[in-house]
Amino acid sequence: MDFPKKDTEPARIQRRLTQSGMQEKAVRAEEERSGYLLEQDLYKTLANSSQVGVYILQDRKFQFVNPHIAEYAGYREEEMVGMESLSLIHPDDRRLARKNAIRMLKGQRFSPYEFRIITGDGRIKWIMETSTPIYYRGKRAVLGNSMNITGQKEARNRLEELEALESSILDAIPHAVVGLHNRRFIFANNAVQTVFGWLPEELIGRSVRLIYCSDEDCDKIARLFYDNLEKHRTYSTEFPCRHKDGHELICMMRASRIGERLTEGRIVVTYEDITERKRAEKELEASREQMRNLSIHLQSVREEERARIAREIHDELGQSLTAFKMDLSWLGKRMAAEKGLWDKIKAMSGLVDQTIESVHRISADLRPGLLDDLGLVAAMEWQAKDFSSRSGIICEADLDAEEVPLEKDLATAIFRIFQETLTNVARHANATKVLVRLETRGGKVILEVTDNGRGISRKQINDPKSFGIMGMRERALLWGGDVSVSGSRYRGTTVTVSIPLKAALKSGGEE
Ligand SMILES: Nc1ncnc2c1ncn2[C@@H]1O[C@H](COP(=O)(O)OP(=O)(O)O)[C@@H](O)[C@H]1O
Ligand SMILES: [Mg+2]
Repeated sequence: MDFPKKDTEPARIQRRLTQSGMQEKAVRAEEERSGYLLEQDLYKTLANSSQVGVYILQDRKFQFVNPHIAEYAGYREEEMVGMESLSLIHPDDRRLARKNAIRMLKGQRFSPYEFRIITGDGRIKWIMETSTPIYYRGKRAVLGNSMNITGQKEARNRLEELEALESSILDAIPHAVVGLHNRRFIFANNAVQTVFGWLPEELIGRSVRLIYCSDEDCDKIARLFYDNLEKHRTYSTEFPCRHKDGHELICMMRASRIGERLTEGRIVVTYEDITERKRAEKELEASREQMRNLSIHLQSVREEERARIAREIHDELGQSLTAFKMDLSWLGKRMAAEKGLWDKIKAMSGLVDQTIESVHRISADLRPGLLDDLGLVAAMEWQAKDFSSRSGIICEADLDAEEVPLEKDLATAIFRIFQETLTNVARHANATKVLVRLETRGGKVILEVTDNGRGISRKQINDPKSFGIMGMRERALLWGGDVSVSGSRYRGTTVTVSIPLKAALKSGGEE
């Protein structure tokens, strides 16, 4: 060891040198201090212009804060200096924030930590911070860099809320909703269990084939979806599917692609079980069909009945009355001498004439023999004339001369519809003229009846109590045709009946 020796020359020299060294040190220290101050100014300038909050803590109190941190903490800079740093932190976060800061200072933690502060005006803000040990004014201190992340935090919370909302929306939908990627499930809502019997987690990652009846079905629907979704945003169709327990169900499926393009076959599909609805629809259609058949049957029974009564009244009553009249005239010739009796017989004969006419009218009303004997056009011509003479309304009939050979029941149906339109004109229209047209056009028989009366309103047309119009429609429907009624106020009403000829043509063999 080198202990200072006696005051030898070399030692003296040495000492002098050391003394001048001490002076040098003092000079250097002085220089350093002013440099140090410069540096401190620089740091301050940097800190003050920084976009993050910068502070220096000594003895847990703020020694320095930059304007940024002061601003988001809600204090003035000079208010903050001297404040306990902990007092700013939310009570619930104090322990953790302190622990994290200590770990960071010890070099055990490197990632920034997050905590809440309570601002000067009592609001809560989220801060993200790092801390570093430094020397400040010759003493140990902590340099903190902090950022106000309240905005991001709130955005993140909102996003989480949105995600929660999204999944509750998915679960509120009563239909199965699944996401597919190259025909594999990537997500499924809870309703997949109601519709298909599978739990969502049983489906994820597996092939969509699971919910179809066969490989062919699966290929077919995939082709349908992917082809259509290339061109359109959404596509829907009805398709058979399979339940986990094996039974088949009919689903209404609606698919849409995820994103703008159909990349990697990513689509969302909803499945609505419509098996029950389909069954009910079928049942309803079947019972409608039954009703229609019953209605056809009743119509024809009624027509037959009417024809029979008409014939009987006409033939039996008519013939008896004619015989009666002949007998009367025979009697009259014999009784010519007795004036009183002869007058009586003449009056009786007149009465019989009237009765014969009534019988003819009643039987024609029941069922015009013309319809059976000469066909629809003749019957309609007769009906038009009869209508005119009874109501005084001019009736112009333009009936396709070239008679279409219609089936007897259809001819009857058209004739009855025609009668109803004329009755309506007489009862409701207050018209002076009716135009009737019957023609075959575009593979259809078309009957058009137009009056120049007061017109008909939409409400009257669709009124569920308009049994006449409903009856016309029903009759036309039995032959696959339809009736349209239109009218405008004071401009008259037009009824158009159109029936496809295919159903209307007389089938060969039948008369
Ligand atoms: N040609 C017409 N002109 C004006 N109104 C009409 C005409 N035809 C029908 N209507 C109106 O439509 C309603 C329904 O007609 P309809 O079903 O035949 O029933 P109804 O003749 O028994 O009243 C009639 O009550 C009438 O108000
Ligand atoms: Mg009517």
